[in-house]
Amino acid sequence: MKTTIGQVHKFVGEQVTIGAWIANKRSSGKIAFLQLRDGSGFIQGVVVKAEVEEAIFETAKGLTQETSVYVTGTVQEDTRSSFGYELHVTNIEVIHASVDFPITPKEHGTEFLMDNRHLWLRSRRQHAVMKIRNEIIRATYEFFNENGFTKIDPPILTGSAPEGTTELFATKYFDEDAYLSQSGQLYMEAAAMALGKVFSFGPTFRAEKSKTRRHLIEFWMIEPEMAFVEFDENLEVQEQYVSHVVQSVLKNCTLELERLGRDTSKLEQIQAPFPRISYDDAITFLKEKGFDDIEWGDDFGAPHETAIAEAYDKPVFITHYPTGLKPFYMQPHPERDDVVLCADLIAPEGYGEIIGGSERIHDMELLEQRMKEHDLPHEAYKWYLELRQYGSVPHSGFGLGLERTVAWISGVEHVRESIPFPRLLNRLYP
Ligand code: 4AD
Ligand code: MG
Repeated sequence: MKTTIGQVHKFVGEQVTIGAWIANKRSSGKIAFLQLRDGSGFIQGVVVKAEVEEAIFETAKGLTQETSVYVTGTVQEDTRSSFGYELHVTNIEVIHASVDFPITPKEHGTEFLMDNRHLWLRSRRQHAVMKIRNEIIRATYEFFNENGFTKIDPPILTGSAPEGTTELFATKYFDEDAYLSQSGQLYMEAAAMALGKVFSFGPTFRAEKSKTRRHLIEFWMIEPEMAFVEFDENLEVQEQYVSHVVQSVLKNCTLELERLGRDTSKLEQIQAPFPRISYDDAITFLKEKGFDDIEWGDDFGAPHETAIAEAYDKPVFITHYPTGLKPFYMQPHPERDDVVLCADLIAPEGYGEIIGGSERIHDMELLEQRMKEHDLPHEAYKWYLELRQYGSVPHSGFGLGLERTVAWISGVEHVRESIPFPRLLNRLYP
């Protein structure tokens, strides 16, 4: 029976054939241990000299890392491994012998691994991270579909810039100027007026000259937008969504979390509700903590966010930032015009901001005034303003950065490992 490693639990005691690669191998004169991987999982294959034909044992001993094989054997339970099964090999058919695979089980430097990202993806660690990424995406669709949201796909080539004009990737759209999308938000607002509750999931681009463990040039964002939803309700959706994602990974990715050495007790605590702290109080808190460099009106840097996050064992919302720090579209506080109805969600353990969100301005005149203050060209945003002309309603939404969320839940240090092919400041290849 031809099967995959992911399915062997259905064939205990039976003979199966699996197409696989040799991840690693140990052998002595009498026995060979093959670490097999096929993408669906990892299993140990045991080849006992006394039990197989001479030629098969010789083949096993000569297998090199990443050689592709069809391997046949009997599935046995193996309580010593966390996977729980082992393959007692009876036959090996080499498909293609791999020579000098560059990524050996020894330690390699980051630049070398990044240059070989197309091959590094095959490692156990990267496999685990990609599986967790996939589970987060699956749980995202599950959450929003179960809660009455419709998936909407905003364009990638756009004429407008929601998050400020300094970080745009400009390109030509025949004779016109266009930009790669920084955020689908403005289109999602239009969609929310048509479908009520919507969410998007797609690539976004920021020509940010930041070289940090949290910044990618190309990253994937989940952007929900909701009509008739105000500031507080928006935060409730966010905490429920993030809790659902974390709990789904805990439930469905136990092997992967174990392989990454993730402290899962920290993730188990991630249940709604999440704490909230105002920007004002965060400034006071930071001053008390000895940050003398920060003043009201300043944006938070990574050390500030980390210090705030360390005060909690769950993600924390920082709410009501100064108007001047945030984009043009945010609804002002009803009693104060110096802050807006927004919140950033800061992940625990130093992973930084994973969500930015707000209530949106729904008054036409105020929005027009803000656009003037931000020097935004009227023509390009005419359609966006028109959303306020025909039955305008309070509405709110947010954007969750997928890679930062993957990095946090997986416990990997840098976002470059949380996307298959990262686009970084100095990296367009592979
Ligand atoms: O805070 P941001 O810029 O918010 C927006 O784009 C809103 N228009 C979203 C919305 O309300 N619909 O980005 C949202 C999130 C951040 O919290 C962060 O997780 C992630 O996107 N992000 C990045 N991730 C990796 N690399 C970068 N350069 C990122 N910039 C933002
Ligand atoms: Mg932000």
